[in-house]
Amino acid sequence: MNILLLGSGGREHAFARAMAASKHCTQLFIAPGNAGTLAHGKNVALAINDFEAIGQFCLAENIALVVVGPEEPLVKGIRNYFEQSNELKHIALVGPDQTGAQMEGSKDWSKQFMQKYKIPTAAYATFTAHNLAEGLAYIDQMQGTVVLKADGLAAGKGVLIIDDKETAKTELSAMISELKFGSASSKVVIEEFLEGIELSVFVLSDGNGYKLLPSAKDYKRIGEGDTGLNTGGMGAVSPVPFADESFLAKVESQIVVPTIEGLKAEGIVYKGFIFIGLMNIKGNPMVIEYNCRMGDPETEVVLPRIQSDLVELMLATAQGNLHEMEVLIDPRAATTIMLVSEGYPGDYEKGKEIRGIDSITDSIVFHAGTKLEAQGKIVSNGGRVLAITSLANNLAEALAVSNKNAAKIEFSNKYFRRDIGYEFNA
Ligand code: AMP
Ligand code: GLY
Repeated sequence: MNILLLGSGGREHAFARAMAASKHCTQLFIAPGNAGTLAHGKNVALAINDFEAIGQFCLAENIALVVVGPEEPLVKGIRNYFEQSNELKHIALVGPDQTGAQMEGSKDWSKQFMQKYKIPTAAYATFTAHNLAEGLAYIDQMQGTVVLKADGLAAGKGVLIIDDKETAKTELSAMISELKFGSASSKVVIEEFLEGIELSVFVLSDGNGYKLLPSAKDYKRIGEGDTGLNTGGMGAVSPVPFADESFLAKVESQIVVPTIEGLKAEGIVYKGFIFIGLMNIKGNPMVIEYNCRMGDPETEVVLPRIQSDLVELMLATAQGNLHEMEVLIDPRAATTIMLVSEGYPGDYEKGKEIRGIDSITDSIVFHAGTKLEAQGKIVSNGGRVLAITSLANNLAEALAVSNKNAAKIEFSNKYFRRDIGYEFNA
């Protein structure tokens, strides 16, 4: 069958590599893709939010399966667009509808959902311009660190963690009154700060049942020792050693099952990935956030550990047949290290020639922000440039290989964290 994958990051390169390897894949198209996805299919210049053009492309190329990588088309309703069209509704699509995508698209919606279905999460309240004064008073009565979250999508920048109340109040006003994060912050969730270790659990839901995928831990800060600004993610490891059987059993019974049942009770037929960001608080899980898609760079360690045919899994997700599937997991550990452009997540330069990718034989080099230029030159085209994934018998061995190869690849403003997985690298 012909398949269309939407997106252009390391996550999508990992999806492209896995789907192209399936016996069911005749031709894979990636819109818009990057220099790495070219090895697995054809890149097409479609904008990910131009549903009309995407629909026309699907008809012209006889696409049977669409896999949506990023959240934006989902929050904007790409599934609804396909389902409402007589010509497109037969096409299998992986990703929730607009209501299901509110899990990520509205922090207030997802907090209400968690409260309603008794899913453990931080205490919170939501404020807008109508009750800003109450929001300021709410901060005054909080104990300790304050977490402010823009309700809507803010490209990963909408969360502020603030130690002193006066600053928190100033920031709340800036978010609501001055729209610091655009319309995304016209509504703000204020929540208590959770102290613990973060990890992520990934679930595939077909609207009826679910499958658990490998867990992963992402390293979000730009600097070594988890310091400095938040980024999209500087590296990841899978599995997460402290997410042992008993912890994951709690995650499943206290969080995954009530989430799936809650979605059904809301009348949402959720067909896609649920990325659950968790805090492990002394052995007990609490939800920090939901995302309606896979993580990046978590995908670059999760998918290489899935041995089952990914196209079969995607089709079963879209068609409600996940109960017939088995998700086979490679017992080996996977690590990935992101090579980024110096300056990221602030300003950085693009267009730097990348050398040495072909010399890497013992890692998978996923392209995150790259572009192929006329004379076959591959150049950087984003803040996050390449993700170097390695598989080995344990995390320490995999990290050694990823680190060695991260050092080998060259481009002029390259930066990477040398301490990814430090807690597990003793
Ligand atoms: P989010 O956009 O919700 O993933 O938040 C970004 C990051 O902020 C998370 O990955 C956490 O590191 C941190 N964070 C969010 N909410 C909380 C919370 N209630 N307590 C502690 N850290 C949080
Ligand atoms: N790595 C975090 C995310 O994809 O949201």
